[in-house]
Amino acid sequence: MAERIFIGVAWPYANGPLHIGHIAGCYLPADIFARYHRARGNDVLMVSGSDQHGTPITVRAEQEGTTPDKVVAKYHAEFVESWRKLGIGFDLYTSTGTQNHTQTVHEMFRSLLEQGYIYKGSQSLPYCPKDARFLPDRYVEGTCPHCRYDGARGDQCDKCGRTLNPIDLVGARCKFCGTTPEIRDSEHYLLKLSAFQDRLLAWVKQQTHWRSNVLNFSTNFIAGGLNDRAITRDIEWGVPVPVPGFEHKRIYVWFEAVCGYLSASKEWSQKKGQPDKWKDYWQNKDCRAYYFIGKDNIPFHTVIWPAMLMGYGGLNLPYDVPANEFLTLETQKISTSRNWAVWLPDYLARYPADPLRYYLSASMPESSDMDFSWREYLRRNNDELVATYGNLAHRILTFTYRNFNGAVPDPGELDASARAILAKADDAFQTVERLLRDCHFKAAIGAVMGLAQDANRYVDETAPWRAIKQDRQAAARALWTSISVISCLKTLMYPFLPFSSQTLHELLGNQGAVESTGWAFHKPAAGQKLAVPTPLFTKLEDSMIEEEVQRLRQVSTAGQK
Ligand code: MF3
Ligand code: ZN
Repeated sequence: MAERIFIGVAWPYANGPLHIGHIAGCYLPADIFARYHRARGNDVLMVSGSDQHGTPITVRAEQEGTTPDKVVAKYHAEFVESWRKLGIGFDLYTSTGTQNHTQTVHEMFRSLLEQGYIYKGSQSLPYCPKDARFLPDRYVEGTCPHCRYDGARGDQCDKCGRTLNPIDLVGARCKFCGTTPEIRDSEHYLLKLSAFQDRLLAWVKQQTHWRSNVLNFSTNFIAGGLNDRAITRDIEWGVPVPVPGFEHKRIYVWFEAVCGYLSASKEWSQKKGQPDKWKDYWQNKDCRAYYFIGKDNIPFHTVIWPAMLMGYGGLNLPYDVPANEFLTLETQKISTSRNWAVWLPDYLARYPADPLRYYLSASMPESSDMDFSWREYLRRNNDELVATYGNLAHRILTFTYRNFNGAVPDPGELDASARAILAKADDAFQTVERLLRDCHFKAAIGAVMGLAQDANRYVDETAPWRAIKQDRQAAARALWTSISVISCLKTLMYPFLPFSSQTLHELLGNQGAVESTGWAFHKPAAGQKLAVPTPLFTKLEDSMIEEEVQRLRQVSTAGQK
């Protein structure tokens, strides 16, 4: 029976370009997971969208001397283009700027308000006398009271990940003018998180299948005591508060952005012409909901969103939240402000998607931070993609094409070594499937590459180019067997490397989309016509390492000006 899988992926702020850290953090793992499940024949809905609100956007607009709507329009279009080029296959990629989203957020807000889970209260908040304004979230910086990090912002500390209230900051200062804020009172709505403390703790404790970092962080966060949190802000950009008297305030970006998972599901249903279809994923108990996010987003997905869902009632809670750790770049922290990053549009303008997808899968920061370096990018491309996987396919397909009339030869009867490598391929299917289902992507791609290595060993041992001189049947058997394993690799690699798997699918003489052949080991029929062989990957010259590192430094100093 087909399983039903909902995949929510963190909504990127449309306030700057995407970089490799975002991709390794959540978009690539989500896409791998979705591709596997779709190929398997499961019923997948994967949604996300651009996060268009909140102080991340307004701060950027003020820095650039432009307006928030211009900032979000520019980056939203750029994101959509990046997903296409990188092969991140959302069922819907929308934004928080739609009517439908506002409606969904208002419905959530009103329901929680009516049930008493949202209430009005007076808040003491930082106010900059010089700029004559309140300083919500990113407008105020200071020292984190928990970990002493000095760049903490009003709502969260980037260092320790804890959510904060702005008045908790030690030595607070206005982001723009540096003035020490006064404290003034302002009316806001609060989410009664305290009411969910016991239910959340009991629920989280049952999630023994979660990654240990996610489980520990969430358990400690809840056990440490949940305080009610303000969910409106003194700003003019964002989703309006659906209550009279709050015309000059907006809903807190995190309260509304997480509702995006639900609003995007509804929008997708609408567009499909089946307006109730979203219920299959949100109300049907058999659907499992996965949320792919970076570790800085954990509390919003394992505490705040579940609390909102519990309060609202009748909708599925997250099944798993496989949050990734961070990616560093040439051993340094990736930084947008210091311009220390490999920007996605820039990468995709110069290199193909699959080598990046491969490297980030093989070095995915699942249980610890990982480093991206151009030297390692080149090594993985040249030694693994080109030498191990690409050459295996290329040398077998060219040799077969030349010596067997461009078609798959008849293997005759299989011998022990052919049966052994085919058995390994069968095993790999099981292993990789189990790893993918459990969101162990790094280990999964390692197992696929392991099979490619085994296949190379088989080819070296059976040496069809030598065999063909004395025993054509032995060569035919070795080639058919190798082509079978290559066909297996095409499917196993598909979730990670969709573009080269599609090419290989066609080189093997098939038509149509590779994913339509399912998650199965297809052995080629004798006589099947092959396409004219072409290499799958391109070897890189050593000189590119220095060029890319130089480029990083230049861009980085330019950004510091
Ligand atoms: N915009 C947030 C970030 O970039 C992520 C939002 S995820 C969602 O950190 F839950 F709001 F959807
Ligand atoms: Zn901190």
